[in-house]
Amino acid sequence: MKQEGKDIDTILERYPEEPRYLIALLQDVQAEYNYISEENLKLICEHLGVPMTQAWAVATFYKSFSLEPRGEHEIKVCLGTACHLKGSQRLVENLSRELGIQPEETTPDLKFTLDTVNCLGACALSPVAVIDDEYHSRVTSRELKRTIQKLAAE
Ligand code: FES
Repeated sequence: MKQEGKDIDTILERYPEEPRYLIALLQDVQAEYNYISEENLKLICEHLGVPMTQAWAVATFYKSFSLEPRGEHEIKVCLGTACHLKGSQRLVENLSRELGIQPEETTPDLKFTLDTVNCLGACALSPVAVIDDEYHSRVTSRELKRTIQKLAAE
């Protein structure tokens, strides 16, 4: 993850100063910094001539945008019905304890973000968790803990 504001000018320069590039610019800034800071949102609005309220509405509407810093590693635990029945709530509780954060939070060192989702489309393999886009099926707290310890040591 890059330092805040480091390359924002380079990203802004890729787009003409027209409001229709709002989503594309938000996507690029999200990809670069892993979130969209208030300061960067303001710079995007100034560049495109878009009101802050409009940019805020778009950034909060799409789940792919985050206005809070995200962790380097994203952990998603499924709490859909099939996974819930297989004890996924317990997985979340154990992860929360292990990481010292609640669901939807990021560790202070910006290493991990813990999220919960409603279904990952792999119900037959429940309980399911996804860490950095890698599926962990019929996963146990022990396996998740091992994976996190490995990532934390990198
Ligand atoms: S309920 Fe968890 S993958 Fe569908």
